[in-house]
Amino acid sequence: MEKTLRSMPFTASKILVTGATGYLGALIVASLLRDTTARIVCLTRAVHDRQALLASIVEEWEAQARGCWSDAVEERIEQVALPDDLANVADLAASLQGVDEIVHCAGCLDYYDVDKLQAVNVHYTAHLLVLARRLDLKRFVYVSTAYSSGYQPHCTPEGLLAEPSRDPTQYTRTKREAERLVATSGVPFVVIRPSILIGTSDTGRYSGKRYGLYQQWMGLERLACDRYHEEFHTVAPSMPLNVLHQDAFCNAFKAAYRWLPDGAFMNLVSDPGRSPSMRHLWDMWFEVTRPARVYYYPTLDDVPLKEIHTRQRAYLTFAQVNLEIASHQWTFEATWLELLRMKGLRFDDATVETVRVCQDRFVRSSEQMRKYMLNHGDRLATLPKFIEVEPARSPVQLSAATF
Ligand SMILES: NC(=O)c1ccc[n+]([C@@H]2O[C@H](COP(=O)([O-])OP(=O)(O)OC[C@H]3O[C@@H](n4cnc5c(N)ncnc54)[C@H](OP(=O)(O)O)[C@@H]3O)[C@@H](O)[C@H]2O)c1
Repeated sequence: MEKTLRSMPFTASKILVTGATGYLGALIVASLLRDTTARIVCLTRAVHDRQALLASIVEEWEAQARGCWSDAVEERIEQVALPDDLANVADLAASLQGVDEIVHCAGCLDYYDVDKLQAVNVHYTAHLLVLARRLDLKRFVYVSTAYSSGYQPHCTPEGLLAEPSRDPTQYTRTKREAERLVATSGVPFVVIRPSILIGTSDTGRYSGKRYGLYQQWMGLERLACDRYHEEFHTVAPSMPLNVLHQDAFCNAFKAAYRWLPDGAFMNLVSDPGRSPSMRHLWDMWFEVTRPARVYYYPTLDDVPLKEIHTRQRAYLTFAQVNLEIASHQWTFEATWLELLRMKGLRFDDATVETVRVCQDRFVRSSEQMRKYMLNHGDRLATLPKFIEVEPARSPVQLSAATF
């Protein structure tokens, strides 16, 4: 079916936002404050006081364009405490009269806590949908993930997803399950599926937790940069790895918010044709840390884990899931993004060069990396040799890199 944007922009007068104390939630609240005149009701856990909630929202507001935060803007933000038991969220209906849209951004990203993933990503969404039916709601926006398809052999469609043969994590499964609840609830909805967020494309400023690439860099900083490694062994697939700059996310979210019609699922992804691969990311990392020799393996099974340095083994074990995700060929339909771009959306795809800006900022701001440079600076002048290891584990030396 042909996809068309709304002829008139969507508007709401009072928007309930979940997850506003988190990374994407603060980006979304700042974007909604800037781009709409709606009042914003932040549904937060009782532990968060108003000052703490406002601090990250003001920071994101200022980052989008300096100045003009005012009492009038601040007064548009209300805060409502979540019941301790998420099942009671629908009981808030009486106190939330006037809310005509819900933007549901709260989520659990802990790959390993299956109970919490189920409780937050699936059950909390179900309870919010009960609340939605009790309110006179125009729309329910669900923030999912571009990886909710799980491992599929085909392009991820902008629609409801079939069950995959396997999921990278229970996180992706629970996000897909929540999408399905939203789409079959009878409530008008939009699903937005961002890929992995990273810092801004111009300065690399990042305000999120250490997920995605930051988890990788943090793992390396902690586990592999407390000393110099003459040799480094890792898995370096060449598939495009989809990451999304946080400024691109905000711009696209604002455009999608206004123009997507009800029932739309939008894959919010960078152009895979311009995306870096894990191989690019490793090359970039070794430009900084400069071991003498780097061994690139096709899969983790090919790495002789018992024979490599224990810190590298610990790192590879820690990064196992992300390395597996990076080894899959992910492709995405991106019709909505194309239509929004045609309508004037400014959207900077993540490329090797813009991801380098983010890595540089991470390295510059890391005390551990500063010490690394200081302690091993004399060795870092040499260029690493890259050695491609074939599945049979016979090292075949490639030419020395010439960056
Ligand atoms: N970060 C990314 O790269 C990325 C990419 C694609 C999609 N997403 C999606 O974006 C959403 C937000 O992710 P994020 O990166 O902003 O994560 P985050 O910074 O960890 O924020 C998570 C938010 O969810 C809330 N939350 C978590 N567990 C909760 C619970 N048991 N009850 C109530 N609220 C709870 C948190 O509240 P507290 O502050 O009280 O803990 C926080 O406000 C998630 O749904 C995620 O799937 C993220």
